[in-house]
Amino acid sequence: MIRLQKYLLLVVALGSYCLSCSSEPEKRSTVATTNRRADYIRQIPGSNDSIPFKEAQRGEVLIAYSDCHTCHTRDKRAKGPAFTDIAERYPVNRNHIEYLAHRIINGGYGAWGRPVMSPHPNLSREDAELMVKYILSLKADGALLVP
Ligand code: HEC
Repeated sequence: MIRLQKYLLLVVALGSYCLSCSSEPEKRSTVATTNRRADYIRQIPGSNDSIPFKEAQRGEVLIAYSDCHTCHTRDKRAKGPAFTDIAERYPVNRNHIEYLAHRIINGGYGAWGRPVMSPHPNLSREDAELMVKYILSLKADGALLVP
């Protein structure tokens, strides 16, 4: 009997918790949405090196043949961030290309929220860097690619 009461109490508590969160989104304004996006992207300032078109193209093919698309799409956030969002955050330079290649090989979490990226230990550093170059070539201004 006591067990049943505890159970009912839990159901009531969970119920009111859910009600309070479902009424939340209406209160948020467009300004808050814009800020949330900026908070998500957290753009890192820095100048951009150019990316050889051929390398970005090879990176795109490597990504197509790997498992990346199970968690990433080009433009929309899925389990992992959109490739265009990653491109928006990081400047194109040696440090960031190496950092991101390291993240792809070793996996990671926390940079974009809770979900975890699985490691890819069989990828060579060179291939991981080509993948990064493709992803970073998706910056909105698009002026980075050189022949
Ligand atoms: C199991 C799902 C999953 C797979 C498969 C996956 N990713 Fe991710 N990826 C994620 C998640 C989740 C994040 C965000 C991690 C974080 O918040 O730090 C992420 C983040 C990234 C980042 C940004 C890392 C950072 O520190 O900002 C890059 C670049 C990336 N992925 C590339 C790839 C590539 C290339 C592949 C394929 C070889 C791949 N991912 C496969 C889930 C995945």
